[in-house]
Amino acid sequence: MGRAEGTSAATGPRSTLDGLVAEVARLAATPLGRATGLPPEVYRRADLFELERRRIFAREWLCPGLAAELPNPGDYLAFSIDEQPVFVVRGTDGAVRGFSNVCRHRMMRLVEDRGHCRTVVCPYHGWSYDLDGRLLGAPHVRQTPGFRPEALGLPPVRTEVWEGWVYVTLDPAAPSVAERLAPLGALVGRYRMAEYVPVAAQDFVWRTNWKLLTENFMESYHLPVAHRKTLGPWLPLEGIEFPERVYEGFTYETFPKDETARYGRAHPANTRLEGRWRYTSVMPTVYPTHMYVLAPDHLWYLSLRPRGVGEVQVRFGVALAPEVAEHLADRETFVRELVAFFDRVNEEDRLVVEGIYEGARAPLACPGPLTWLEREIHDFIGYLARRLAAL
Ligand code: FES
Ligand SMILES: [Fe+2]
Repeated sequence: MGRAEGTSAATGPRSTLDGLVAEVARLAATPLGRATGLPPEVYRRADLFELERRRIFAREWLCPGLAAELPNPGDYLAFSIDEQPVFVVRGTDGAVRGFSNVCRHRMMRLVEDRGHCRTVVCPYHGWSYDLDGRLLGAPHVRQTPGFRPEALGLPPVRTEVWEGWVYVTLDPAAPSVAERLAPLGALVGRYRMAEYVPVAAQDFVWRTNWKLLTENFMESYHLPVAHRKTLGPWLPLEGIEFPERVYEGFTYETFPKDETARYGRAHPANTRLEGRWRYTSVMPTVYPTHMYVLAPDHLWYLSLRPRGVGEVQVRFGVALAPEVAEHLADRETFVRELVAFFDRVNEEDRLVVEGIYEGARAPLACPGPLTWLEREIHDFIGYLARRLAAL
C-alpha cells in the first residue's frame, strides 16, 4: 500500500468519510514501529465528529469527577454527555446518582457547575425535585387539571462509581465500568485513590479537537521540551513502561519520579505503597476522554467534553493522598502553590494542543512516524478504529 499520509485530502481515498475511517483502521493495524499519527482530517472534519457523537459519545462511560468531590448528601456536580446535560448528586442514602439536568416543566437547565442543595429547585418556575429525582412540588399547580407529579420525575442517567471515580453513560447496554476497567483495577488498586482528598477543580475551554488533547495527555515524549519549565526535568524517560498487551477500554504508562521531584513520591506516613511503587506514578487514559496521573502523594485529572470539531471543554481536578492532606502544616499555601503549578502545566499543554489544531488545518500538513514513547497514541488509534469502523 502507498504512503497514505501523502494522499491529497481533496482527491484521495480519505476524501470520503468511509475512506478516512478505513485509513484509521489501516494505521491501527500497522505495527507501532511503522505507523504514523492520524491524518489531519481526523481532527477537523465535521462528518467525522458526527460519527464520533453516535459511535463514541452516545455509548461510552464519561467521567464527571471524583465521588469524593461529593462528600455529603445533596452535593452535586453538573456535567454533560454530548448535548445531554446531566448532574450527579449524592443521595441521603450515600449513593451517587445521575439525572438529566433538564427540568420536566419547560426544559430549563436545573443546576450548574457544582454545589450543594437539599432539593433540586428549577431556577425558572421553582419546580423542586428530591435527590432521587422525584418531583416534590410545583408552585400554583392545584388548578391545573390532571397534574400528576409522580409522572414527572427526572430521567435517571446510568451512573457507576469505580475506584473513587464517577462515570455516566447514556447507553443502557454498555458493559459495566467495573468489567471494562477490571485489569486497570489490578494496577491502580494499591494506591487506594478513592481515599484521595480533592482540593481543587475547574472547567475551561480550549480551541482544539478533543482527540489532540487525549493524545497529548497520554504521551510523555513531550515533557522534557513542552514542559521543560515544570514537569520535564523530573521525569527520566527511560523509566517509562507500558502495558504488555492492548486493552479494550483503556491504556496507561507508569513512570518513576526521582529524588529531585517536588511532587510524586510517597509521604513517609504512606503505609499502602511498597518498594518502587512509593515513587512510581500510573497515568491511565480511560477511553475516550478521562485521563489522570495517579502519584503516591497526589492525583490530577482531565475529563473532556467536545463542543464541536474545534472546541473542547476541559474539567481539571487535583486531589491529595490522605496522609499528605492530613500532615500539611499550611494547607492553604500548599494547595495554592500546587494549583498554580498545574495551571502552568495546563497552559503549556494548551499552547501545544491549540498549535497542533492549527497545524492540522494546514493544506501541507501530514502526519509523521510515532516514536516508541507514543505507544499509547497507537493504542488510542486502535480504540478509534474499533469504535468508528465498528470492527
Ligand atoms: S422550566 Fe423548570 S420550573 Fe419551569
Ligand atoms: Fe503535557
